[in-house]
Parts: sequence; structure tokens; C-alpha cells
Amino acid sequence: MCGIVGFVGSEADALPFLLEGLQRLEYRGYDSAGVAVVQPQGLAITKREGKLSRLAAALASAPVSGRCGIGHTRWATHGRPTDINAHPQVDCRQRIAVVHNGIIENFQPLRRELEAKGHRFRSDTDTEVIPHLLEEYGATEDLVEAVRRAEARLKGAYAFLAVAADHPDRIVAVRRSSPLVVGLGQGENYLASDFTAFLRRTRRALVLENGDVAVVTPEQVDISDGAGVPVKRPVLQIDWSLEQAERGGYAHFMLKEIMDQPQAWADCLLGRVEEGQVVVEALGLSRPRLEAVRRIKMVAAGTAYHAGLVGKALVEELARVPVDVEVASEFRYRHPLLEPGTLVVAISQSGETADTLASVALAKRLRVPVWAITNTVGSTLAREADAVAYTHAGPEIAVASTKAYTTQILVLTLFALALAAARGRPRPDLVSQLAGLPEAGSQLLESLAEAMAGYGQDLARHRDVFFIGRGLDWALAQEGQLKLKEISYLHAEAYAAGELKHGTLALIEDGVPVIALVTQPQLWEKTLSNILEVKARGACVWAVARADAPAIPADLRIAVPAFEPLLMPVLAAIPLQLLAYWTAVARGEDVDQPRNLAKSVTVE
Ligand code: F6R
Repeated sequence: MCGIVGFVGSEADALPFLLEGLQRLEYRGYDSAGVAVVQPQGLAITKREGKLSRLAAALASAPVSGRCGIGHTRWATHGRPTDINAHPQVDCRQRIAVVHNGIIENFQPLRRELEAKGHRFRSDTDTEVIPHLLEEYGATEDLVEAVRRAEARLKGAYAFLAVAADHPDRIVAVRRSSPLVVGLGQGENYLASDFTAFLRRTRRALVLENGDVAVVTPEQVDISDGAGVPVKRPVLQIDWSLEQAERGGYAHFMLKEIMDQPQAWADCLLGRVEEGQVVVEALGLSRPRLEAVRRIKMVAAGTAYHAGLVGKALVEELARVPVDVEVASEFRYRHPLLEPGTLVVAISQSGETADTLASVALAKRLRVPVWAITNTVGSTLAREADAVAYTHAGPEIAVASTKAYTTQILVLTLFALALAAARGRPRPDLVSQLAGLPEAGSQLLESLAEAMAGYGQDLARHRDVFFIGRGLDWALAQEGQLKLKEISYLHAEAYAAGELKHGTLALIEDGVPVIALVTQPQLWEKTLSNILEVKARGACVWAVARADAPAIPADLRIAVPAFEPLLMPVLAAIPLQLLAYWTAVARGEDVDQPRNLAKSVTVE
């Protein structure tokens, strides 16, 4: 994620806008922040680890003035959140500064190449290769040409802004797969990751397209496309309220985060698959390390635990390595049997959940290696684990976890595939399907957009809801029930479909909603008979089914695009998240901040 802003004016100072814009973008990242302002004597750079308020305080006691500047609020992806890793990043002589949102996939070879040429790097970020490339390509003489040449060397998804002390009247901006918009003012122009940053100042904006390079001065915005051909982008009139804009126009962060998922999946997969194979190093692991794994113990809490349940099925099916998944609050107080060859996999969005951290500490005491899956660079979990893979979902603000869950599953899928390959069971067919998930997710979100609010209204009238499924569908059912109960406060429970008749069937009576997951072809027939059992007792069945599933005796059928069964949970999670969301909305509950809950459970 990360938020970036830029200001260039003929009279006004840049700093007030930079701080105001960053404050509006803080939802995109908040582990460190910084600004660079162009001054006659050079660049004035101020950066601080921590929330934006720390940067603002530093600038209040040592203000900087100048009419052109850039700013950044960070959600770390490479390098811990520290003053040095905060953006802007600069070249060797501090004459060029860059703020960047996204990931430069090939930063390591570029860094080696630049270091061999004598460039001195200060940070651990991928971003820092950009100012050094700009320096190498003569940005002090021609910033635009240098940006073009540098951009041709970069791989990944990113947007960046560059300023140079020798060109005090301009910002050069590049957009490649990460968002970037230009706000059009009077005698001043703005750049930002989204409209929110400048809505108080202007509602006229341009959206840059992939490959665009824009040269922004106080009076002009010159854009050329990826081929270097000058282009005009239409001027939009933005009519969002400020509050709406912060959530990208959505009523709640949860809905925004559900809708963000296709992009989050693309970011999560970026640089991790090459030529039909998982890039093991991009998961923080190595082939020898994988070859040494004999057993896996996953530890996590809540939704992350549910991701672990999916992970167990994937690893056991693909790699044939036994996996146990444990609730961290239990694991930490047991005397676990961790045989030699065990890998502990700790899963946590925040990387700060007390029980998960205590489980990691226990594993370390027992000298068992720990691999972490987290969304938060620089978190305690990321620091404590022996190796770490980031989910790259961007900040998750809503208490109910959505995009963190599906990206955790994606990382676990990559892990299962890599482990399988290391054990001589490669599945290039599955690896190649991964790239299609973001597009399928977008289509699914689009196809569900209209109907889900109505389904939520229907469900909101009930008191108890049951979720059933088999295999991976049961793992997913457990997440479906948690999502629903935590934000709508309905009583919801998940059952392995075949287990119903061992007791729970007694609760099924006329009209009770049963949400049946039917995404696993090898289990369709069995789940269908369980659906018939509850139907016979009067249940109202809603089936979330793979698009090519056979006829289901359900009262409602929600179709999910057909992918390999092992990849279905990522997609099938979407209708369950939307159902929970719209049910909570229909009941008038506080969707983003449900009662009694907190986003990060840092105490026992
Ligand atoms: C539910 C939810 C929680 C978290 C749990 C673990 O929507 O968000 O159940 O999954 O508190 O949090 P992390 O992943 O930060 O360790």
C-alpha cells in the first residue's frame, strides 16, 4: 500500500498540503512518514518512524518551506519501519528524492549493479534503487529523460514521484499498476495515490493510466504514455464527500477491503511465480529448508486460524506432509510434541497477537524453526520468526478480516505448491491457474454487486444461521460463520456437513437458514445428501456453489467461478464476506468496529 502526495505551486508553500494530503492517506499505511521539499540550496528531507503525528511534530519544530515537494506515508514491504527506510529515498548526493508506492520486484539485481558502479545505499528498501538509477541516468540535467530510462529498468507494480534540486519547478510522476491521480488547482497542482488527499482544494482531477509519465508544474500537466507519445487524459469532476473518499467511495472499510481483494491477490502473487514454479525465496524460504520439513504445526488465532485450516488441507493434499493446526491460545499452554523436522508456521495479520507471539516464543524455546505469514512488516512476529512471508494485502482497517484472510490462504497455497515441488510432486498446472484468480475475483465481485444487499436483508431477520461443508468447504464454513457472527451478532455455527446428524440436526426447524458450501466436486454428492437432510426438516438452504456444480435442491444458489478445487476457498470466501457485511448493514450494526472487539489482540 503506502500513500504518496506531491505539490508544486507558483506562490504557496508545499508543506501544508503535503501534511494535509498525508493525513488523508494515512489509512493506506502508517508505520513511518516523510517529506522532501525543494529549496534553493538543495532538498530538505524530514522523515520519522511511526505515525504521521511524529513527522508533523518534527516539522512544527523545524519547518521547511519551498514551493515543490513530495510526501509519503508508509506501509512497509521491504525493510522494517525505521527513519532510514521511510520515504523519500534519495541518491548519493541528496539531489534527487523519490516517494514510491508498490513493489520493485527486481530491486536486488539493480542494487548490486548500482553498488558496483559506486552508488552508496543507505536503506533496506526496494525504493532506493530509483533515485540511484535517476542519478545514474543524469537526472540533474534532464529529470524526465532520466525517469524514462529508469522506468524501463524496473519490474513490478508501482507508482512513484521524483523531484530534483536542480529542477525546482516540477514533479515527474510514473504510474505502473499502482494508483496515481493528479489534482488540478489554480497556479498549483497536486499528485496523490487517491483523490482524498486533495479534495479539500480541488475537485478537478486526472487519472493517470498504466505506463503514463506526467510532468507536473504549477501551470501545466504534460502526460505521455508508455511509448513516450503525448496523451490527454479526461478531466474528471469528483463529487465524493471527504468521508466517502477516504474509504474509496465505499460506506465502510470492510466493504472497501472486500472489493480490494483482486488487487491484494495480484500484489500477493507478484514476483512469487515464475515459469510455472513458485519462487521459494520470495516466500522467505529456501529449497534445502523445505526439503528438511517432515511435519508442520500451524498456530494462529481467529480468522488466521481458519486460514491455517485451509492451509492444512492444501499442504497434506499437495505435498503429503502431515499438518496440525492449533489455536495459539491453547498451544502456548500445552507441552507440545514437536519432533525433529517440524516447522512451526505462525499466521497473523497484525503480527502482534499475544497468543500467537507466545506460541512462537515456545517453539523457539524448543528450538523448532518458525516461519511467519503476516501482513505487517516490522511487526514483532516478523522480527521473532526465523523466516517470513508477507501477504502484501495492504492495511486492513475494518476489525473483521477479509483481504488478510484470502491473502493468507494464497501464501499457504504457494507454500504447499513449493513444498510439493521440493518433495518431487510439482503441480505446474495449479501454479499456472493462480494468475487467473484476481480477474476471476473481480468478475465475481461484479456479478454479486447487486444481489447481496437483498440477501443480507433476508438473513438479518433470522436468529440462528448454520454453515455446512465438507473438506475445504468445511474449513471455509468456519470462517463464514465467524464473519457473520462478529459483525451482525447473529448466532452462527459451522458444521462438517456429515456431522450434522450426530446432534445438530435437532436444531433444524422450519425456515432456519443453512448456508451450504458446494465447491469441491469430489464431495458434491455427499454434500447434496446433507442438503436434502436439512431440507427435509424445513431448512431454507442457500448454496454457495462452484459454477459447474450439478442441480442443488437449494432455495438460493450463488455461483462462484470454476477453478481447481484446491483454489476455490479464495474465491468462495467473497460471497460469505459480502453476506456477513450486508446482514450487518441491514441490522444497522457498526460494521467496521463491532462491539467488544479490537483489531489487534495484543493482550491475553
Ligand atoms: C476476525 C478477526 C480475528 C483475527 C484474530 C487474529 O475477523 O480479524 O479473528 O483474525 O484476532 O488476528 P491476527 O491475524 O492479527 O493475529
